[in-house]
Amino acid sequence: MRALKTQVAIIGAGPAGLMLSHLLHLAGIRSVVLDRRSREQIETTIRAGVLEQNTVDLMVETGVGERLKCQGFNHHGFEFRFGGEGRRIDLYNLTGGRSVTVYPQHEVLKDLIAARLAAGGEIVFEAADAQILDIGQAPRVRFMAPDGALCELAADFIAGCDGSYGPSREAMPAGEREDYQRIYPFGWFGILAEAPPSSDELIYARHDRGFALISTRSPGVQRMYFQCDPAENPDDWSEDRIWAELQARVSGNGFRLKEGRIFQKGVVPMRSYVRQPMQSGRLFIAGDAAHTVPPTGAKGLNLAVADVFVLSRALERFYTAGTADGLEAYSATALRRIWRAQHFSWWMTSMLHRFADASEFDRRRQVAELDMVTSSPAAARTIAENYVGLPLH
Ligand code: PHB
Repeated sequence: MRALKTQVAIIGAGPAGLMLSHLLHLAGIRSVVLDRRSREQIETTIRAGVLEQNTVDLMVETGVGERLKCQGFNHHGFEFRFGGEGRRIDLYNLTGGRSVTVYPQHEVLKDLIAARLAAGGEIVFEAADAQILDIGQAPRVRFMAPDGALCELAADFIAGCDGSYGPSREAMPAGEREDYQRIYPFGWFGILAEAPPSSDELIYARHDRGFALISTRSPGVQRMYFQCDPAENPDDWSEDRIWAELQARVSGNGFRLKEGRIFQKGVVPMRSYVRQPMQSGRLFIAGDAAHTVPPTGAKGLNLAVADVFVLSRALERFYTAGTADGLEAYSATALRRIWRAQHFSWWMTSMLHRFADASEFDRRRQVAELDMVTSSPAAARTIAENYVGLPLH
């Protein structure tokens, strides 16, 4: 048995775990990050792509924003399309100069991994079978190192940043935890295509055939989604069929998508989930380990970053001032933002998707709601404030 020791054991090298390790390092606190995946897998898995202003500011302020500043695309607005026309939400003017940046999640992870390794940080990739042994007086995580050695990592605290399927959620005693969830009866069919952008800004479209989203990755690669059956088999969808479906949902008023070779396709499930409280003993959970949002509000990665921002400040206070008040308040502080994001993500989802049991009344009400949020400045501002993100401080 190899015995290791650190201050904070972090399970999961996703946005929450890596950002936490980075913020702790800047506060002089040591951590070890474990992940069962390889560095290559983490750096190449395609996930979401919209960063709130908060996330961008935090990356820039903490020295990991150089590539983001050069390669990210700053968006001052997005478009809602419905009834054959597009209506813009002017994020920038509605929020007093805030905006979002399209920069893929795996690029954020590359930047954080590079920064941690350059600073001598410890990330154990391909750490198998991570098991939380104690979340009380002697927090410990056991895992198998890539060389086959059985390791036991002792720490003052464990941060569970291991997503929906990691060991952290299960390590919380059953009697102390509450789970809230909603599973949507649809998924998103996502594609990556080699094509020029069809629009300067993201398009969220409502159509009687279902929702569609036009996003981007780079000048030559576009990311698009359309609402589908959650059990849809991507192999049943030829390129022609995909383009026909997307065009049917977003074209109109002279607008058409620019098509190109589709080189990746897959179905994303849609659900809302919250585990609370986000602490048990010396285990703190953050990011997808604690909550899931449907991607419609583009909040997943941003919520993970906001969680660990709060957690890092609380740990810093513990180590420098010797008080646990920040740690005790972590769950409540994080949950307030999380429930706001849950509401926003549910709202965007319900406003834009086709529900199989919707009546004609429901459909007309949905269109009226889109009309309201794109014509009332007060309603548009509500959308804009939530989309760019509530302030971190
Ligand atoms: C994406 O580009 O992958 C993306 C953009 C906006 C969303 C969700 C996903 O709301």
